Amino acid sequence: MNNLVIIGASGHGKVIADIAEKVGYTDIVFLDDNPAVESCGSYKVVGGCKEALSYKSADFIVAIGNAKIRRKIQSQLVEAGLHIVSLVHPAAVIATNVKIGIGTVVMAGAVINPYTEIGQGCIINTCSSVDHDCQIGDYVHISVGAHVAGTVTIKENTWVGAGATISNNIEIVKDCMIGAGAVVVKNIEESSTQIGIPARKLGNGQLVGGSHL
Ligand SMILES: CC(C)(COP(=O)(O)OP(=O)(O)OC[C@H]1O[C@@H](n2cnc3c(N)ncnc32)[C@H](O)[C@@H]1OP(=O)(O)O)[C@@H](O)C(=O)NCCC(=O)NCCS
Repeated sequence: MNNLVIIGASGHGKVIADIAEKVGYTDIVFLDDNPAVESCGSYKVVGGCKEALSYKSADFIVAIGNAKIRRKIQSQLVEAGLHIVSLVHPAAVIATNVKIGIGTVVMAGAVINPYTEIGQGCIINTCSSVDHDCQIGDYVHISVGAHVAGTVTIKENTWVGAGATISNNIEIVKDCMIGAGAVVVKNIEESSTQIGIPARKLGNGQLVGGSHL
């Protein structure tokens, strides 16, 4: 398990490379479709996504902030029979009876408590927490310093912004954007952008942002 290919040479990619080093990968390269990007931190960008098949024996992870693009690329890698891993920083705390799907990254200082299930391709970012009995859908991003209390369900693609809080027993539908610092105290039943304390729908509620990393 020494060779890891990271797709997406971004700041997020740098954090993932750091975790990869700490968990024992010694041969780390990046792929990125932007030909102008030649390196990511101290690692080389060795080609575009098309080159993935040249690394059949390597492990793969997608380091792209936009949930829909992350899903698309991860699905293509799975279809191609490539091996996607999940990565957990050694300084994250993962309780027993936690399930973590492939392609998910858990950053330093994050805490995931018992009987929580984290889907595929998720980002559980630096110093965030997901408490007991939560169901976190595929490609959800829990941003830096965000906190999800117990028995919360968050459906696929939803992005919980930095420092946001989701109160216990809440359900949030797919494709939502929870603004930085928001406090969600009621179920969110419409795919929408929510801000403030308590969280309320912003403007026309369209999902915004996405390529944020
Ligand atoms: C919610 C968010 C997506 C809105 O982005 P946007 O659609 O571009 O909205 P705008 O910046 O045009 O702001 C629209 C209005 O909402 C307010 N607003 C924006 N984000 C807000 C937030 N998080 N909390 C409270 N108010 C917010 C703005 O001040 C503005 O108010 P105004 O019309 O009175 O001037 C964005 O501000 C946000 O919070 N992104 C999360 C970023 C993040 O957490 N990154 C973490 C990476 S790990």
